[in-house]
Amino acid sequence: MKVTIDGHTIDVEPGTTILNAARMIGGEIVPPAMCYYSKLKDSGGKCRTCLVEVTKGSEKDPRPMPKLVASCRTTVMDGMEVKNITSERVLEARKGVVEFLLINHPLDCPICDQAGECHLQDLAYEHGTAKTRYEEERRTFDQIDIGDKIKLHMTRCIMCFRCVFTADQITDKRVHGVLYRGDAAEIGTYIEKAIDNDFSGNMIDVCPVGALTDKTFRFKSRVWFVKPMNASRDCDKCCGKAVVWMYGNEIYRVTARKDKYDEVVDFICNTCRFDKKQVSDWNIEGPAEINRHSVISANKYKKGIKVTAPKVLGYGNNVD
Ligand code: SF4
Ligand code: FES
Repeated sequence: MKVTIDGHTIDVEPGTTILNAARMIGGEIVPPAMCYYSKLKDSGGKCRTCLVEVTKGSEKDPRPMPKLVASCRTTVMDGMEVKNITSERVLEARKGVVEFLLINHPLDCPICDQAGECHLQDLAYEHGTAKTRYEEERRTFDQIDIGDKIKLHMTRCIMCFRCVFTADQITDKRVHGVLYRGDAAEIGTYIEKAIDNDFSGNMIDVCPVGALTDKTFRFKSRVWFVKPMNASRDCDKCCGKAVVWMYGNEIYRVTARKDKYDEVVDFICNTCRFDKKQVSDWNIEGPAEINRHSVISANKYKKGIKVTAPKVLGYGNNVD
């Protein structure tokens, strides 16, 4: 099927969504996505950041779609024409979506562990307005521990449902979900500290904001002060391929590897994530490239540039 997005035409398989077709083209025409996650079945359709304008429905029925549509949930039709960054309507609507997402989100970036790798921060910077018109009281929640290694800061949650899908699809028993409805909806376990599963830590990686954080890393460092290194180990539970975030010769945290849309490539187990914090636990391969346009990719060394690695890391001096 042929689809044209912001003037770029591409052939895609039937069933491909507009968002994925845009990702196949790449570049700045790709709509932002706060809830869709390609590795999680049925994700998307919650946040409306990926709205686009369909100016031609298909070759057979060229009528435009009257409303903006969620590109993560709308599949392409042959001959469809879509506008994203070339549509004033989309840019205006996206500003509104950002404003809604920020209504209940605290502006606590200076003390939030997600700062620097927060999708909402990037979204607000790239698509939002400089001022808020919101004067009412924001909803707030107490922080709770869900499991011994994960902190839930519900006040920051944007209800994207990614953590729920992660728990549902990659752990053997889901013990948390969305409680209540509408503006009262919240992520919860009902029984605090109930999350105890070998793969539960992946919820931290999929959370686009700082609502789920790693208790073993909280407040240890800003992410831009630690260096991401690709590392691997023999693990009998997961792929054993991760990124270790180093400060000098210390491993401050371990995360899964992510692609350029900041989506996990392979989910990792909690043993790798929380218990393997010694350099000797890992075979450190070299600097991890952060593809995403974000503050954490700024001023970082890149592949191909020679860097001097401390000897104690044991991976030689010149890393390509
Ligand atoms: S806790 Fe994070 S991943 Fe879960 S719904 Fe809220 S924002 Fe999404
Ligand atoms: S990414 Fe499409 S609605 Fe959230």
